[in-house]
Amino acid sequence: MTDLQKRFHDIIAPVIEFDYETEIIDGKGSWVTAADGRQYLDFACGIAVTNMGHRPDAVVAAAQAQLNRLWHAGGAYLYEPIVEAAEKIVDITPDGIDKILFMNSGAEAVEASVKLARKVSGRQGIITFRAGFHGRTMGSVTYTTSKAKYRQGYHPLLPSTFVTPFPHPFGWGMTQEDANAYALRELEFKFRYEVTPGEIAAFLVEPMQGEGGYYPASHQFIHALRAIADEHGILLIADEVQTGFGRTGDWFTSQVYDVRPDILVMGKAIANGLPLSAVGASAAVFDAWPSGSHGTTFGGNPVSCAASAANVDALRDVVPTVDRVSEYAFSRWNELKERHRTIGDVRGLGLMIGIELVTEGNEPDTEAFASIGKHAHQAGMFILNCGPAGNVIRFIPPLNVSRDDLDRGIDILSDAIKAYEG
Ligand SMILES: Cc1ncc(COP(=O)(O)O)c(C=O)c1O
Repeated sequence: MTDLQKRFHDIIAPVIEFDYETEIIDGKGSWVTAADGRQYLDFACGIAVTNMGHRPDAVVAAAQAQLNRLWHAGGAYLYEPIVEAAEKIVDITPDGIDKILFMNSGAEAVEASVKLARKVSGRQGIITFRAGFHGRTMGSVTYTTSKAKYRQGYHPLLPSTFVTPFPHPFGWGMTQEDANAYALRELEFKFRYEVTPGEIAAFLVEPMQGEGGYYPASHQFIHALRAIADEHGILLIADEVQTGFGRTGDWFTSQVYDVRPDILVMGKAIANGLPLSAVGASAAVFDAWPSGSHGTTFGGNPVSCAASAANVDALRDVVPTVDRVSEYAFSRWNELKERHRTIGDVRGLGLMIGIELVTEGNEPDTEAFASIGKHAHQAGMFILNCGPAGNVIRFIPPLNVSRDDLDRGIDILSDAIKAYEG
């Protein structure tokens, strides 16, 4: 154990777990540098946050300039960066999103979106989808069902929350169409047996599940939800905390599917790593939320907002390239799937790709990721997993990764899979 690791364990609450305990002192682009001088390819991206890589020049310059002027206002007076960031974000969000509320974290923005939906609809019920991840604060963990351990020991959670299946075709051994039909039938049963649709304020859904295993909702399923929401006056909240800001091939997955969310939840890559999150909605929805009935001290921090505005500008050149890079990455992964029995499924959108590792009996192989993640680390790369069994490689390189670095990352993982298979 290094001295820093010892100090860390002596002083930091053990509930906080880091995937790797290598000390990193610097990051630039797709690479980070360890204290011993070793370079690592960073495909963890701070959990889908550094979409522009580490320290993109324009974002650094904007944040530094703001740091030298004003770095906190706390809602006491106006400052331009909050307006500028909101304008830029509204410009790239799906049609119908006209106004922005800034918060600090994804969980906080999720909770704000639920408060908004309840207040403006006058209804209490929230329907969420199994294996969804929406955060870990007391309210947001109510909606998180990606792993039972996130909820264990914290009950009772918020009442009037109903959980229904999200299509998992690979996990269920079904086609996408059959999985959609099954999930929609269960939703119908929810309304028949448990709660009437008129009591539901919102569907809270990730258009592509992240933590739960990198399952895209599919065009058909998300449009079916939109239609049911319209029929019953239910608000559709799209949690795009992980999928947003170019990750899935357009600015937001809602645009990939051409579906209109009533409320859009954003976080993670919004400021490429500075703490910021946001809720977007139409003027009609936001204007029905009485002034002062929600608030924040740090939300919309001037430095984070300046970084976010510059980040959106920087991403303008990158987002249109994601589909091309994605096609190449998928072709490589699909080719590797042909060669490795451990790869059961390759799925996703854009540069949010899940590679599901399975045993010979086609069961989730938790050991496989443990071995592959370790091997990759030894070879100079950080990579994360997802899924309830931790057996899905979460392949999320920076969106502006070079072809060489992308190949290098896939080669390292391919070698790691080969070594695991023996
Ligand atoms: C879809 C989704 N929603 C909400 C959250 C919670 O965000 P935070 O960790 O910033 O609270 C996450 C975090 O991983 C997420 O992936």
